[in-house]
Amino acid sequence: MDPEFLKTITFVETAETSESDFHPKTFDEYCGQKELKTKLKLYTDASRMRNEPLDHLLLFGPPGLGKTTLAQIMAQVMDVGIKICSGPTLERAGDVVAILSSLESKDILFIDEIHRIPSTVEEMLYNAMEHYRVDVIIGQGAGAKSVNLPINPFTLVGATTKAGMISAPLRSRFGITERLDFYLEDELCEIIEQNARFLQVVLEKGAAMLIARCARGTPRIAKKLFRRIRDFAQVNNNNQATIELVQQALDFLGIDEEGLNAVDRKIIETIAITFNGGPVGLETIASMIGEDSETIEDVYEPFLMRKGYLEKTPRGRQIPRAMLPRFLKSAGGQKTLFS
Ligand SMILES: Nc1ncnc2c1ncn2[C@@H]1O[C@H](COP(=O)(O)OP(=O)(O)OP(=O)(O)O)[C@@H](O)[C@H]1O
Ligand SMILES: [Mg+2]
Repeated sequence: MDPEFLKTITFVETAETSESDFHPKTFDEYCGQKELKTKLKLYTDASRMRNEPLDHLLLFGPPGLGKTTLAQIMAQVMDVGIKICSGPTLERAGDVVAILSSLESKDILFIDEIHRIPSTVEEMLYNAMEHYRVDVIIGQGAGAKSVNLPINPFTLVGATTKAGMISAPLRSRFGITERLDFYLEDELCEIIEQNARFLQVVLEKGAAMLIARCARGTPRIAKKLFRRIRDFAQVNNNNQATIELVQQALDFLGIDEEGLNAVDRKIIETIAITFNGGPVGLETIASMIGEDSETIEDVYEPFLMRKGYLEKTPRGRQIPRAMLPRFLKSAGGQKTLFS
């Protein structure tokens, strides 16, 4: 493979890797996901003992739950290299051939948003995953010929937020398929405390739980909220995050005691008040509140559904009947949410 060609490829770093932030580097530092961790630890130990690459692994799960981080930990534990790239940037099969040829034996190739790779790339991956071979076109025009070349045995770790969008042939080539679930509040607390220790912020007992409750089951959101609270603590309270300070910061950020933000409240309000609890179509809600429908579906709805505030039905979104009176309590004749 032409080394110059390799230089043209950009590897997209998808995990947050800023130095000023804590990032788990071992399974022990990776909080929660206990069952998944136990399985992956076992698989990585077994393949290390056999001195073989790990079987190809497909990770499903909503954004920010730690898929990229997990792949990096596995590479660290197995003491192999990892290349991280993103499905939409792998436009040409030739680019992928170049990446695959550059992998050392047992290395991990992590492809984020794997549901977005073009079909030509996908077909090329089949052969690479199964037989560790790639087809390379040598020469141009009439003299061009296809040569089937071996590559080093490697592990493909694919990550996707959209389970349903992976084609069946691609999915069937992964030996291990696992799902990441939303985190429990206790687990998010642990992540927040881990970050507080790293950033040397003093957290009052109970303050971490207050943040965890607003983190929508997602480590990325927990960390983001904690960073904003740290700003508050630094400027106003000598780096001490007391319960009172956290409460003030959450109010300032527009997050209520239920963990709902302004957009969540708008969605609920629109369905409850304007459409009498629904059902109402996603597109209608999107245009009423001025948000993109995909964002509503991927970012806001999962949390609202887990809270029991929203239901999906074949006729559209609705507020569960039992919840409606609570959302419709009128204050001084005017209908307001949670009043
Ligand atoms: N189990 C965990 N323990 C501690 N920190 C975590 C954990 N999972 C994720 N994080 C942190 O949360 C952030 C998001 O993780 P990561 O980038 O791995 O998510 P992702 O699932 O790859 O998201 P996306 O689907 O958007 O690519 C990172 O800063 C990571 O360090
Ligand atoms: Mg990622």
